Amino acid sequence: MSCNESRAWTFAARGLPSAVLSLTTRPIPTLPPPLPLPGDVPKPEEWLLIKVAFAGLNPGAIFQMMLVPPMVRSANCIPDMDFSGTVVDVWAPDESGSGTQARQFKKGDKVVCMLPASHTLRTGTGALAEHVRVPARYVVHKPEGSSFADAAGIMLPALTARQMVVESGAKEGDRVLVNAASGGIGTMVVQMVRNMVGKSGYVVGICSGTNVEMVKGIGADQVIDYTQHENLPQHLKTLFSDNPFDAIIDTLGHQSLYVASPSYLVPGGIYSSAGIKPPDFGVPNFLRAVVQMKLNEWWPVSPWLFGVGRKWMGVSMMNPTLEDRERVVGMLGRGEIRLIRDSVWDFENVKRAYETLGGLHARGKILVRVDLAVGDDEC
Ligand SMILES: NC(=O)c1ccc[n+]([C@@H]2O[C@H](COP(=O)([O-])OP(=O)(O)OC[C@H]3O[C@@H](n4cnc5c(N)ncnc54)[C@H](OP(=O)(O)O)[C@@H]3O)[C@@H](O)[C@H]2O)c1
Repeated sequence: MSCNESRAWTFAARGLPSAVLSLTTRPIPTLPPPLPLPGDVPKPEEWLLIKVAFAGLNPGAIFQMMLVPPMVRSANCIPDMDFSGTVVDVWAPDESGSGTQARQFKKGDKVVCMLPASHTLRTGTGALAEHVRVPARYVVHKPEGSSFADAAGIMLPALTARQMVVESGAKEGDRVLVNAASGGIGTMVVQMVRNMVGKSGYVVGICSGTNVEMVKGIGADQVIDYTQHENLPQHLKTLFSDNPFDAIIDTLGHQSLYVASPSYLVPGGIYSSAGIKPPDFGVPNFLRAVVQMKLNEWWPVSPWLFGVGRKWMGVSMMNPTLEDRERVVGMLGRGEIRLIRDSVWDFENVKRAYETLGGLHARGKILVRVDLAVGDDEC
């Protein structure tokens, strides 16, 4: 590999990561960005070239590889959205529209980035590359005391978690149930809800037995091991019908928990969900899940009209703002949330990292060390 080249994982066909990903060598992207500019950033503005340190993997990337047909995306795509790294070049238009006057960032800045799907799919840009060229609007400064690894894993799950917590309406003193409390989003939700409801509130998490102590450690008052209950909704009814929750946040999307929720969620309480969990990553089950989501959203809530009786709110993390990004990275910097690491994989082992993620039992975040020279806890 020459010094003008770097490596990236790419996919062209649809399928599981193990089948479609290849490790490729390509010229290092350059600035200014090529014309025409992509539709999400149509006018000249600040762009950065970043040497990636770590990337955080998200189940959404597996859905993208499995589901998005090549004709509606770039022919060759680099997967995933979250990464951290160091700025190695900056470009911004000057008043004449052609110059290189930088505004927010300079070479050497340590940064964290979350790319929206609207940018990754159209341009083929993604997190799993040694060098990434991105619009600065998707980038924030990494907090000084936070490691590159933790920063890389934080943004998408924390942005999703924050939206869910806000939409759930949880407030000081509330009782809140969190499903899949041990995953990438769940661990963020538990910490944010704990901060939101305060000492007078009560947080109950649901996860498998091996993660019970971890979920208690990040703020849950009580944790239910779902593997011990064949009929979890019935168990929740037995435990909580006399003292129901003010809000439920489901970071995986179990329809059975929603349907039974009038037994353990107050009237008027919100069921905030990350979606509906399909049984696998295939197209038919994904489409069924989308139909179910729309039915949950649009069907009247009233039981008199055959509704569930509680409001279901689906979260869509398609277009967070720069302020949203700064807010959650600020939470990491101030120690209000911390990243739970499932595992750290070297760049060569991305396929195995995705296999682990695809099992849907990640304990916090699965991270990839893209730059082998950057240590696990290096800031
Ligand atoms: N709507 C949006 O905008 C949006 C954004 C991001 C992600 N998502 C979706 O949200 C979901 C979660 O994402 P994530 O990143 O948190 O995934 P993740 O890190 O893989 O976590 C999944 C978690 O699910 C738990 N789990 C598995 N089976 C369970 C069950 N039967 N009952 C309760 N918990 C169970 C696992 O815990 P145990 O190992 O303890 O079982 C694991 O911790 C994914 O489907 C993702 O696609 C949606």
